[in-house]
Amino acid sequence: MNKQAAYDTVISQIVAVLDGEENMTARMATISCLLSEAFPDRFFWTGFYIVDETKENELVVGPYQGTLGCLRIQYGRGVCGTAAASMETQIVEDVHAVKNHIACDSRTNSEIVVPVVDKTGELLAVLDVDSTEFDAFDDVDQENLERMVATIFAS
Ligand code: SME
Repeated sequence: MNKQAAYDTVISQIVAVLDGEENMTARMATISCLLSEAFPDRFFWTGFYIVDETKENELVVGPYQGTLGCLRIQYGRGVCGTAAASMETQIVEDVHAVKNHIACDSRTNSEIVVPVVDKTGELLAVLDVDSTEFDAFDDVDQENLERMVATIFAS
């Protein structure tokens, strides 16, 4: 199956499983699980860093699939913090070439981080996907992950 077809299938599955489910933990846990099962070779760490409303400009780890992730990330720090601060998707072909990268697991070589906003446009979290492959993510990943988070969290 090509990548677009795999996204079409997994996004339909996510939408069907989460139909009517408002709980954030349930949504994020289900998305992390189904995405990592859909792309077992490319998605090494798949999960969410959530805006911590009790702190200033800080993300705290949420539901994920993968090896141990760092617990907290300040806005502007690392790829996740850059996505949170800029509200723009970040694609990094080689994390070792990025000074600002937070190395939670040295096996990670590339990543994509997509901001997650609610229907008012307010930042809720970022979706972080890390790969052991270099240059694992492209505009097909970006378009589909952005479409999926908009469908689940902003509609
Ligand atoms: N890759 C992230 C850090 C989080 S973990 O790797 C799970 C970053 O640099 O933002």
